[in-house]
Amino acid sequence: MAEENVSGVSEAEIAVHWQEEDYIYPPASFIRQANLTDEGIFERFSLDNFPECFKEYAELLDWDKYWETTLDTSNPPFWKWFVGGRLNACYNCLDRHLAADKNKSAIHFVPEPEDESTTHVTYQELFVRVNEFAALLRDFAGLKRGDRVTLHMPMVAELPITMLACARLGVIHSQVFSGFSGKSVADRVVDSESRVLITTDAYYRTGKLIDHKEKADIAVDEAAELGQTIDKVLVWQRYPGRHSSPTPMVEGRDFSVNELLPDYRGARVAPVSLPAEDPLFLMYTSGTTGKPKGCQHSIGGYLSYVAGTTRYIQDLHPEDVYWCMADIGWITGHSYIVYGPLVLGASSVVYEGLPTWPDAGRPWRIAEELDVNIFHTSPTAIRALRRSGPEEPLQYNHDFKHMTTVGEPIEPEVWRWYHRVVGKGKAVIVDTWWQTETGGFLCSTVPALGAMKPGSAGPALPGIHPVIYDEEANEIPAGSGRAGNICIRNPWPGAFQTIWRDPDRFVANYYARYCKDEKSTDWRDWPYMAGDGALQAEDGYYRILGRIDDVINVAGHRLGTKEIESAALTVGEIAEAAVVPVSDEVKGKVPDLYVSLQPGFEASDALQKTVSSAVVSEIGPIARPRKVLIVPDMPKTRSGKIMRRVLAALSNNEDVGDITTLANPEVVEAIRQME
Ligand code: WTA
Repeated sequence: MAEENVSGVSEAEIAVHWQEEDYIYPPASFIRQANLTDEGIFERFSLDNFPECFKEYAELLDWDKYWETTLDTSNPPFWKWFVGGRLNACYNCLDRHLAADKNKSAIHFVPEPEDESTTHVTYQELFVRVNEFAALLRDFAGLKRGDRVTLHMPMVAELPITMLACARLGVIHSQVFSGFSGKSVADRVVDSESRVLITTDAYYRTGKLIDHKEKADIAVDEAAELGQTIDKVLVWQRYPGRHSSPTPMVEGRDFSVNELLPDYRGARVAPVSLPAEDPLFLMYTSGTTGKPKGCQHSIGGYLSYVAGTTRYIQDLHPEDVYWCMADIGWITGHSYIVYGPLVLGASSVVYEGLPTWPDAGRPWRIAEELDVNIFHTSPTAIRALRRSGPEEPLQYNHDFKHMTTVGEPIEPEVWRWYHRVVGKGKAVIVDTWWQTETGGFLCSTVPALGAMKPGSAGPALPGIHPVIYDEEANEIPAGSGRAGNICIRNPWPGAFQTIWRDPDRFVANYYARYCKDEKSTDWRDWPYMAGDGALQAEDGYYRILGRIDDVINVAGHRLGTKEIESAALTVGEIAEAAVVPVSDEVKGKVPDLYVSLQPGFEASDALQKTVSSAVVSEIGPIARPRKVLIVPDMPKTRSGKIMRRVLAALSNNEDVGDITTLANPEVVEAIRQME
C-alpha cells in the first residue's frame, strides 16, 4: 500500500476550480516550420505499437552498440529499456556535433551583472573544457564509472561542463540546487555516499556576490557527523584566477579547479562506452514523508526520452536559440537546459541570476540580444514578471516562436498574459506536466497539432497513456467532472529506474497502490502513480490540480511538509509542528508553519524568528515560512492526530467545516483570533 496521506490535507483539495476555456490555435507560421506535423504519431505511439514505438526516440542518439531488447519487464516495476545497447551521454551531447557544428555556440552564459558580457561557449570549446575537466576528475579526484559525486553549483557554464565530464566517465552526478543549505547538501552526500563535492566559490544573486563556499564547509562537517567523509572539495572560481569567497580554502581538502586545470591542458578522455541501463544521474526530490529521495535516471532511456520530447514538444531545431529559465538544480534544467538541447546540437542559454534583476525587462533584453526563439519558464516567474512589469515585454523586439510553462498549474489569466504580452500573440505555448521521477514531459499539446487551452496541460504525449483512478481503483471517465489520482498505464523510457538505495520505497510510493497483480511481469498490471490529483475534460485534456501527498509546491519547487516540520523541531522550545500550503498570488503556494511549545516556554517574536531561521538553515530560503504561528495547542482528533486540514482552512481564510468531532474544537477559534 502507498503511505497514508498523513497531513489530512492535499493541495488538490484546496485547488482552485477553473472554468473550461476556449481553444487557441497554433499559427500557420509555426506549423510551417514545426518538427512534428504528422497526426500519425499518435497511431505510431499507440499501445498496440508499444514498446517498439520508442525506438524512434532512441534512434535520435548515436549508439556504440544497438540494443537487443527494447523493454525488459522481467523484474517489475524495475523496467529496463534498450537492454544490450551501449552508448555515452557526453559523446552524444558533444563529440558527435563537432564535425558539422564545432563553431556553433553550445552554451550562452549570461552573468547576472549587466555590465559583464555574455560568454559564448562553442561546441569545440565545450568539448575541450569537458575533456580537461574529465581528466582532472579521473586522475586527480580518482573518480570512475559508478561513483557518485555531489555537485552544489549555481547557474554558470561550469555546471553543464561538470555534468558532462561526469557523464563522459560514467560517474553519476547528483546536482543539488544552489539555493539549498549546506545541511541539505550533507543529507544528499550521505545518501549517495559521495566522496567528492564540486562547488563554486561565489555567484551573483540579486546584485550581490554570494558566498557559496561557506555552504560546502557546512556540508562537509555535517556529512562527517552523519558518517560520510568528503575527501575532496573541488571549487570552481566565479572569476578564474581569484578566490571570490570570504570563506578560506581548507588545506589538503579544498582544491581550486581553475588552479589545477593547467595540468590537464590538452587532455582528451575517451568517452566510456556504457550499458544503456547504467545510471546517468541522481536527482533528489521531496516526496511522501521522510527524507528526500534520490531519483535514479538511466543513460539510454532518459537520453532517448529527452531527445524525443525536446524535438517534438519543444520543437527544437539545431539552429534555434533556446532559453529555459529554470535552474539546472532541478529536473527541468537537467532535461531541458542541458541534456535535451545539447543532444540535439542546439544552443542553450544559461542565465546566472534572478529574472527580475535589475528590473522586469531583463529577460526580454537577454532574449533580444541572443535572438532567443524558444522560451521556457514557470508560472511563478511569469506571475512575478507580470506583476513587476505588465507592459514591459512589449517594449522589446524579442521574437518567440514557442514558449513553455512548467512546474505548477498556471491560472488562465496568467496564461493569457504570457500569450498576449510575452509571446505577442504569435508564439505557441505548451503547458507541460511532468515530474523529477518521469525524466521528461508526460502531458502537453504537441505544439503544431493540438489547440491550446489555457489552464490545461493538454492531452498525453505520444506514447504516454494516462488513467485517472478513484480511491477504489475505478477509472474516472473523461468529462465526468470528477478528479482522482492520475497514473500512467505504461512504462516509458524517461521514467526513473529506482530510488537510490531504496527500491522498496520506489515500489511502495509509485506502483503498489494501483498494482493489479504483484506477481505479474506484465507491465499492464503496474500503472505508475504520479501523486497528483487531476481531472480529464471531455476533449481529453488533463487539468492537473496539485499534489495528493505531503508535498508543497512552492514557486514550482517541491518541498516535503515533513522536511519543514523536522527543521522546526530542531528548535528546542518546539513541541509540535504542522505545515500547510497557503495560496499565494506569485508563488502559487507558500508554507505556513504552526508550532506549539514545550511546557514552560512563552511565545515571542524572537522565537518565531528562530524557528523561521532554523527552516532556512536546514533546507534553504525557498522553504522560509510565510508565517510562523505559535499556537496554544494544535487542533486534534480524539486519537491525537493533528488536523492539518483545519489549519489549512484557517491559513487560506476558508471555512473550517465541521470541527465538532475534534478533541479540542475551542482551539480553532483561539487560532483564528491570532491570524
Ligand atoms: C507539479 C517539475 C500543473 C505537479 C517538472 C508535479 C505541474 C510536480 C505541472 C513535479 C504543470 C509540474 N501543471 N502542475 N504543467 N508541472 N507540476 O518533480 O504537482 O519538481 O507532481 O518536476 O509539479 O515537480 P518536480
